[in-house]
Amino acid sequence: MSSNTPQQPSSYSLAVVPGDGIGPEVTSAALAVLDAAEAACGFTTTREVFSAGAHHYVATGELFAEIEERLRGHDAILFGSMGDPSVQPGILERGFILQMRQRFAQAANVRPVRLYPGVRTPIADLTPERCDLVIVRENTEGAYVGRGSTVHEGTPHAVAVQESINTKAGVARVVEYAFRLAAARRRKLTLCHKTNILVEAGKLWAGTVAEIGERYPEVEVDYVHVDAMCFHLPTAPERFDVVVTDNLFGDIITDLGATVQGGMGVAASANLNLDGSAPSMFEAIHGSAPDIAGTGAANPAGAVLSLSLLLGHLGEAEAAAAVEAAAVHVIGGMQSLTGPGMGGTTDEVGQAMAQAVTALAEGHLSSPLRDSLTGAMAAVRGGAQR
Ligand code: IPM
Ligand code: MN
Repeated sequence: MSSNTPQQPSSYSLAVVPGDGIGPEVTSAALAVLDAAEAACGFTTTREVFSAGAHHYVATGELFAEIEERLRGHDAILFGSMGDPSVQPGILERGFILQMRQRFAQAANVRPVRLYPGVRTPIADLTPERCDLVIVRENTEGAYVGRGSTVHEGTPHAVAVQESINTKAGVARVVEYAFRLAAARRRKLTLCHKTNILVEAGKLWAGTVAEIGERYPEVEVDYVHVDAMCFHLPTAPERFDVVVTDNLFGDIITDLGATVQGGMGVAASANLNLDGSAPSMFEAIHGSAPDIAGTGAANPAGAVLSLSLLLGHLGEAEAAAAVEAAAVHVIGGMQSLTGPGMGGTTDEVGQAMAQAVTALAEGHLSSPLRDSLTGAMAAVRGGAQR
């Protein structure tokens, strides 16, 4: 054994699921950025691209179950988007996305809400300093369990029952993660729920937060009803550091969060498996936008920032920070966050971000932001350990 043996670069196996609509184009832009990050930071990936989504479903009838075991073997999943008018709404959502989140125990859906410098927000006078929070959405239960029934369907006496299931174990694992994340950030955790009306679920959530919070005395705990959140999030985002919430509330308030941070084009997410039993999945929050697919009008920033979360999750903190800084450098200079106002097509914007990664690594691009950028993203990972 010799001390000057060069260290093998780390290598990761990625599953890539481009999906439908703008999914393939934003994913390919993100992969160009990944190429640059690998060259700059000295790690490698192998990528298996999966054919899945509307066209694949129409042609084969296959959804998630058919590729579950092949996906499971990878270190992480980079996901584009799914949905197309050729498939009835709900089939791909439930048969693929929700299946993946549930079968792979991706318990926490982590959605940073950060207003980056130079990005226009519809909220008057909001500044980047005031908007840096992370919403942690429970990702496998609640109203998303797909349970319910209808009797007397199609008659004036129809009765629809839609169940929302909350288990102690499911709530505890996401709340624990949210506390760890808060402890690694500004040490404030807000529970967002509707405990005054959803009394039974509310008791479980609030009780679990109180119980787990005893082990995190340094984290201040706050509570906000979900309706009030719709007022506070846009007007006083500085009130929040980490917000933990139920699956459906999280679905709704993260669209609001995306709007506050400049739009769906720039919002990223991590669907984290917290026990190492299956891969985590990373996807932009936006959908497949079939109306603009193939026109080059889609902003790849959501996909690229999701790639940054993926890299942070794999432990490539340097690369995660460089990718985030590069994306921010490019979107900060855009006239508008979609379409021609981006200053280039999806592909060209991806190339610009890739070049910015290289320039950052070579020191040609100064980024005063860069150190602070490790904040939200690196803490997403740091929060996973304790
Ligand atoms: C999201 C989406 C999904 C959800 C849909 C596509 C199933 O809206 O990731 O927020 O409801 O969770
Ligand atoms: Mn949603």
